[in-house]
Amino acid sequence: MVKQLVTPKRSLTEETEERLNGQIMMEGLSSARYLSMASWCDTMGYVKSADFLYRHSEEERQHMLKLFNYVNNAGGHALQPEISGIKHKFNSLREVFEEVLGHELEVTESINDLVEHCFKIKDFASFNFLQWFITEQREEETIARRAVELFDIIGEEGVGLWTIDQEIAKLEDFAVEQLPNEGE
Ligand code: FEO
Repeated sequence: MVKQLVTPKRSLTEETEERLNGQIMMEGLSSARYLSMASWCDTMGYVKSADFLYRHSEEERQHMLKLFNYVNNAGGHALQPEISGIKHKFNSLREVFEEVLGHELEVTESINDLVEHCFKIKDFASFNFLQWFITEQREEETIARRAVELFDIIGEEGVGLWTIDQEIAKLEDFAVEQLPNEGE
């Protein structure tokens, strides 16, 4: 039997630890999916979209590490998630960003469930820690919705796709303008 280490700092229930590891999986999956999308965009010549997605893949990895640190500092054990089934090919640039939006909506739902759980069991330390993710999801959803919207506003004919690719580079600034008092 493995000797239980004394962890006077342990403040997580086993269920909360498991749920936080579930969120680690979601963030790791985001990072992997966006990296794959970035690579596809690169091969297709959508250079601004590729840059955007490489950046976002890295951001998602940072979100995952934030959770790693929290779980371990709270006396739990953060687990490197198993990630498989990553899609490598896409039918269009629009499909890429529709999938980004769909994925971000799933991440928001997952964070909301986790926050609700922490509130219910009065784990207010975890509840408080997770507020950062709530704000972050507001920004990420705003960006993803705008990305999909660009395809309708600009249209894909002629120089449309080239223009959309240029506009993708400005999405982070768009989110800051739309949500001036939220997040970093
Ligand atoms: Fe960190 Fe976009 O989920």
